[in-house]
Amino acid sequence: MLVKQRGYSLVVDAPAKLNLSLDVLGKRSDGYHELETLMVRVGLYDTLRVSPLETDRIDFLCRRSAGSRAQNRDAVPLGDDNLVVRAARLLREETGCSQGARIELFKRIPSESGLGGASSDAAAALLALNRLWKLELSLEQLQRIGGTLGSDVPFFLFQTVAALCRGRGEVVEPVPLSQTLHFVIARPQSGLSTADVYRECEPSAVAKGTGPRIDALNDGRLQQVAQRFHNALQAPAERLNPEVSRTLSQLARHRLLGPTMSGSGTACFGISISRRQALTVAARLRAAGNDRVYAVESRP
Ligand code: C5P
Repeated sequence: MLVKQRGYSLVVDAPAKLNLSLDVLGKRSDGYHELETLMVRVGLYDTLRVSPLETDRIDFLCRRSAGSRAQNRDAVPLGDDNLVVRAARLLREETGCSQGARIELFKRIPSESGLGGASSDAAAALLALNRLWKLELSLEQLQRIGGTLGSDVPFFLFQTVAALCRGRGEVVEPVPLSQTLHFVIARPQSGLSTADVYRECEPSAVAKGTGPRIDALNDGRLQQVAQRFHNALQAPAERLNPEVSRTLSQLARHRLLGPTMSGSGTACFGISISRRQALTVAARLRAAGNDRVYAVESRP
């Protein structure tokens, strides 16, 4: 994520992620689940702007993308319980810093979707405030702090398009991705809470594998790649929300390869052979009444 200077403010575009594979390997004594997941960043962004304040207040303002009625139905925490505000407060606690900031968040990534929006926003806040407040924390220090905010936060702090993540998701091993991948994402009308989906899932001791082979991804062998997309949270999510199954069937009908749910859902995605095909399919899905469809590429 790049932190850009705009006048007195700092601006960061916070991307969404997709889980191309996700295995749940066991339940841990701390209540979390042991995972192995291949995550890829994609070009659907929230935007965070932080500006200096004369006082020690953290002023937070969250706006949703204009004109999206669907987005307005989302349960985005608008106050102190937003992960961005929690990130700012934790950063001050950890460093003893007493400076304030005005933080504006422009939401485009739908919440309760498994697309990592809130985690990405928190990572963006850590990066921007580290600079605004001149804290000079290293990336490793930010990753440790990020890991306590949410399991996916460290992934977004790495400067990588793709990574294999283990532990509860916070142990990140970047993997090289030389090809641009094209996806269509469809988010059903309703979402799911991450905790509810994990509660419903039954861990299997054996991973199906690390998902798509990285060499196949890089060689553009999409059929092979898509066959290995899988998500252990998909079956529990389908039991909790029938819209997930409907959305997966819709993606398959539109000839997207490897329709799979991302993270704990409810957003689903498929891979397409070109940007052009992705845009065409996305337009058809919108015409069929789905108002949250995104044609996206893998992006740094
Ligand atoms: O880490 P994060 O705050 O995103 O997790 C939200 C919830 O999802 C956790 O409280 C936990 O119930 C569940 N979870 C889990 N195992 C993981 C990640 C999340 O059980 N590896």
